[in-house]
Amino acid sequence: MCGIVAYIGRKQAIPVLLEGLKRLEYRGYDSAGVGVMDGGLKVARAVGRVRVLEEKIDETGGLPGTLGIAHTRWATHGGVTEANAHPHRDDRGKGHGIAVIHNGIIENYAVLKKYLEENGHTFTSETDTEVLAHLIGELYRGDLEKAVQAALREVTGAYAIAVICEKEPDTLVVARKGSPLMVGVGNGEYVVASDSSAIVAHTTQAFTLADYTVAKLTRESFRTSTIDDVEITPEVRELEFELAELDLGNFDHYMLKEIHEQPRALRMCLQGRIDVRGGEIVLGGIAQHARTLANTKRIVLVGQGTALHACMVGRYLMEDMAKIAAEADFASEFRYRNPIVDFGTTIIAVSQSGETADTLAALQEAKQRGALVLGIVNAVGSSIARETDAGIYLRVGPEIGVASTKAFTGQVMTAAMLALFIGRRRYLSQEYVGKMLGELAAIPDKIQRVVDASDTIRSIVAKHVERENWLFLGRGINYPVALEGALKLKEISYIHAEGMPAAEMKHGPIALIDSGMPAVFIATRNSQYEKVLSNIAEVRSRGGHIIAVATEGDGHIGTVAQDVIYVPDAPEQLQPMVNVVPLQVLAYHAAVMRGKDVDKPRNLAKSVTVE
Ligand code: G6P
Repeated sequence: MCGIVAYIGRKQAIPVLLEGLKRLEYRGYDSAGVGVMDGGLKVARAVGRVRVLEEKIDETGGLPGTLGIAHTRWATHGGVTEANAHPHRDDRGKGHGIAVIHNGIIENYAVLKKYLEENGHTFTSETDTEVLAHLIGELYRGDLEKAVQAALREVTGAYAIAVICEKEPDTLVVARKGSPLMVGVGNGEYVVASDSSAIVAHTTQAFTLADYTVAKLTRESFRTSTIDDVEITPEVRELEFELAELDLGNFDHYMLKEIHEQPRALRMCLQGRIDVRGGEIVLGGIAQHARTLANTKRIVLVGQGTALHACMVGRYLMEDMAKIAAEADFASEFRYRNPIVDFGTTIIAVSQSGETADTLAALQEAKQRGALVLGIVNAVGSSIARETDAGIYLRVGPEIGVASTKAFTGQVMTAAMLALFIGRRRYLSQEYVGKMLGELAAIPDKIQRVVDASDTIRSIVAKHVERENWLFLGRGINYPVALEGALKLKEISYIHAEGMPAAEMKHGPIALIDSGMPAVFIATRNSQYEKVLSNIAEVRSRGGHIIAVATEGDGHIGTVAQDVIYVPDAPEQLQPMVNVVPLQVLAYHAAVMRGKDVDKPRNLAKSVTVE
């Protein structure tokens, strides 16, 4: 989703801004723009990739200046056009040379626009952001920081913004509410960005702006205040990851890199948290809530996309190992359902980015209703991490590929640790927990074996890559794995794929099956293995082509499935972490074979910061 980079310092701004935008490309966007201050304000915008913008800047002979703002836009209000790309400016005739970039949605923009039009402002785009630029201009009385504060007191919605003004050529003003924004603090310079990936090349010292906070940055100093101008002191912290973690290394795509990283990432996730011999789990972040968790009556896991699929696996884990009634729901649906939430309910918000607007809104709603709210989040210091009562970080490292992979296995691993943590405080024996922790520790090596068998998976994909419709079927704890397999294929190869419980297929989707249609069954040996075999027979007898994910050593499956991907055996509760990996590999190869841009799939955003 929209990416923001802004710079004030002594270096030329354009290289810093463009490099930052490239780092943020993974978030998803469809146009880009920059605004640089050099005597006057200069703006360049382009539809398409950052490199198109770069070419445009080069053609004009470059944009010199040491203060600038830059943006990648993911269209919401208004189509994908240059006129709608950011920065947006206040009315030139009447204006002050103000330029604004924005991530989020100004919900009351229509009312504000009407008011501004009545006051003589004319608009050149269909965006809500342009309204903000004009409003700041309208309220400008010689102090940009004050004008921004005043404008933000009038708006409802979500925003992360960066603002510059010709009349104050040595000032950068940034602000946020709801959308992510971080300020990197360098030596005589500041780099502001939507996330730390655009900052770490310049400094590892940074602070996150709190909601309703404005920062005024000059080359010498900064001042942070609320939109009501109450001065506050932010907490500057050390960014945790290295620039090297953001590089592709020898891989062609981030998604492939992250698939391969899973064994190491999961070891990091477990490190220092499990005591196999003692049968104990150490989760410092939630330790103080251990008693509440042991007595909780109901757990609701909420997330979106891949994180929701992890929630669905988590639901089985909570029921099976913690023995607590559990549900998994789209955060977006839960939030607006008038949900029954009380003091006996624990909400677990699951999110890689920690910025997904729907998930954030759902947890805020649950908190208001008195629930204990925990987070299972990857991005340290993100909005969800900060708004939850307590939480567990995934520790799988930054995930850049839009198609989430290592975050999913990390989320499931973390949910398994949490279920065992709660279960141990309820009724699980030390011996059982110790055994399961040993099994958890063995998962990374098992995933490594699946990753090493990638060539077999590629040759299976090659046979079916032209097919436009695929089914993914699984039962029980493997049903969410089927959903995740279908989602992976859809999002990066644009093949239509449906995931569903294998038994549900008979109630309608079976009508879709025609000769040779690929049907991927999660058929590892578990409590529902025999039933899955029956479902396989139903599809096969109607001409479907069966691709089975099955347990190594299963001598029978090859007689019912035309293609088999063998995976190592694990306890049923933990098997999803192993089973999902061949589906990630399958989707990856399908997308590459179809010539798709794996890391930048059309229309998708890595981090969806609007509801
Ligand atoms: C977007 C991404 C998905 C992700 C989902 C939830 O749709 O493209 O990969 O699963 O958001 O994101 P989160 O950061 O909350 O896990």
